[in-house]
Amino acid sequence: MEPYARHVLVCTGGYCSSDRKGRALYARLASLLQREGLLFGARRVKRSEAPCLGVCAGGPIVAVYPEGIWYGGVTPELLERIVVEHLRDGQPVAEAIFHRLDRRPEG
Ligand code: FES
Repeated sequence: MEPYARHVLVCTGGYCSSDRKGRALYARLASLLQREGLLFGARRVKRSEAPCLGVCAGGPIVAVYPEGIWYGGVTPELLERIVVEHLRDGQPVAEAIFHRLDRRPEG
């Protein structure tokens, strides 16, 4: 598998957004990543869809790793901001984050 810089998980399930809006987001994500030059090379972003990410409210849910940043209520407009501001420019969209991975060192 080619190296990648980030992994984006999109929930396409029916509990966090009643009409499964995540499906359309996931379909749109590939073209946004292509437009921003994030499908290949050192900044490559891998994308995956998931039937459920264990949140099941306030969706659609999108999670970005390795930062462990979780976005809720992701609209097509917000997805575009996530791709441009976070994935391309490295600045998470702070106001849309509802959870962050706790990366305190062990011990
Ligand atoms: S259905 Fe989306 S988080 Fe569970």
